[in-house]
Amino acid sequence: MNAEVPSKADLDPIETASRDEIGALQLERLKWSLKHCYDNVGHYKKAFDAAGVHPDDLKQLSDLARFPLTVKDDLRQNYPFGMFAVPENQIVRIHASSGTTGKPTVVAYTKNDIDMWAGLMARSIRAAGGRPGDRLHNAYGYGLFTGGLGAHYGSEALGCVTIPMSGGQTEKQVQLINDFKPRIICVTPSYLMAIADEFERQNLDPRKSSLQVGLLGAEPWTQAMREEIEARFNMDAIDVYGMSELMGPGVSCECVETKDGLHIWEDHFYPEIINPDTGEVLPDGEQGELVFTSLSKEAFPIIRYRTRDLTRLLPGTARTHRRMEKLSGRTDDMLIIRGVNVFPSQIEEIILKDPRLSPHYYLEVSRNGPLDEISVFVEIRPDADDFSDDFRAKIAKDLVHHIKSYIGVSVKANVVPVDEIERSLGKAKRIIDKR
Ligand code: DLL
Repeated sequence: MNAEVPSKADLDPIETASRDEIGALQLERLKWSLKHCYDNVGHYKKAFDAAGVHPDDLKQLSDLARFPLTVKDDLRQNYPFGMFAVPENQIVRIHASSGTTGKPTVVAYTKNDIDMWAGLMARSIRAAGGRPGDRLHNAYGYGLFTGGLGAHYGSEALGCVTIPMSGGQTEKQVQLINDFKPRIICVTPSYLMAIADEFERQNLDPRKSSLQVGLLGAEPWTQAMREEIEARFNMDAIDVYGMSELMGPGVSCECVETKDGLHIWEDHFYPEIINPDTGEVLPDGEQGELVFTSLSKEAFPIIRYRTRDLTRLLPGTARTHRRMEKLSGRTDDMLIIRGVNVFPSQIEEIILKDPRLSPHYYLEVSRNGPLDEISVFVEIRPDADDFSDDFRAKIAKDLVHHIKSYIGVSVKANVVPVDEIERSLGKAKRIIDKR
C-alpha cells in the first residue's frame, strides 16, 4: 500500500460519530426530505396519498418502509423537469444520464447541492488516501455524465491540483501522466486497463508511473480486477460508487486502510436493501437490491429509489457509517442461462484467474431455439508464449471448463488476438445482447 491513511483529525466529525448520533441526524433529515418532496413534487404527493402515508407518519427510521418506492419509470413519466423540488431560479446545474432506451434521466442541483456533492466527493478522495496538494488526473468524462464534474469539484474542494483530462485521447492520457506526475487518478477500471496497455505500447512501465491511488467506479469490477490493477500500476485501487439520480460519484467509497466494501455517507443518503421481487425490506447482511433515500438534497430529492444494483449492507469498519459490499451486479445485467443466474462479474473472476487471458472481454448473448446462450470473447495477453489459433483454442477450452465447473453453465468461448476487442473510454459494455 502506498497511500497514507488520513488521521482522525482530518476527517469530518460525522465520519466517526456514534451510531446514535448518525441515526438522530438521519431521522431529523429524513423528516425534512419527506416533507420537502410531499410539498414540492407532484409525483411524491400523489404516490404518498395513494399509499395512504403522510410525512408526519414517520416517527422512526424504520417507518420509511411504509413509503412508496420510486423507480426509473417515475422519472421518465415526469421528463424532463417534473421531479424538481425548487423553482428554476434556484437551480445552478443539470446533468442527465443516457438510458439504454428512450429519454435520458434528468437531474438538477442547487448551489447547496453542488457544495454537498463536492464535500462528499472530497471525503471520498481523502478516504482513498488523497490529501490536499496532491495532483489528481481526472479521466472521467466531462459533460452530462456526472463522473467528470463530480470528481472535479470534489478534487478542488479537497485542495488537490486538478487536471481535467476527461475520457479518450489515450496517448495523451499517458503523456500527461508522465509529464504532470499526478498521484491520484479518477477513471473507470476498464479505461484504466486501456491506459495501462497504452503505457506498454509506448514501452513504458505503468508500475514506474507517479500514480499511487485510483478512485475507480461507474461500472462493476471484481476483486480479481482490483488485484490486476494494483499489480500493474503498483497503486491502491479504491472502489467509489454513485449514480446520477442520487447525486453522482461519492455516495459511497472504500477506505484505503481496509478496502473492505464502500462506506455509505449516511449523513446524506439512507440505504435500504429490498427483495427485488417482493419489495420487502431485508435485514443488514442479506443480499438484495439497493434502495436509497436522499436526506439533504434540495433540487432533486429522491425517496426510496430502486437502484437495481445488488449488494448487502454491512457494519462500519474504518468509519462508523455502514458499508455496502462491492457490487455483484445489476438486476438488468443478470443473465438466466438454463435456469442458472449468471452475472458478467462471475465470468470476469474466472477469466482473470488465467494468466494467459487479458482483462478485455465481453459476453454475447443469443438465442438458440428456446434457450439463451452466452459466448465469451476475451483477448489473449500480449505477453503470451504463443498466439497461434491452436493455442488460443486450447485456452478457450480451459475457460469453458472452468466456467462450467465454477458457475455451472455451458458457454462458448473465443480467445481472440491482442487488440481485437474495442476499448471503452468510459463505462465498458460487457454484454452484447443479440436476442
Ligand atoms: O456512474 C456515477 C459515477 C461516476 C460513479 C464516477 C462512480 C464514479 P450513472 O452514470 O448514473 O452514474 O450510473 C450509475 O453505475 O447504478 C451502478 O450500476 C454503476 N456503478 C457506479 N459506480 C459503481 C461501482 C455514475 N463502484 C450506475 N461499482 C450504478 C459497480 C457502479 N457499479
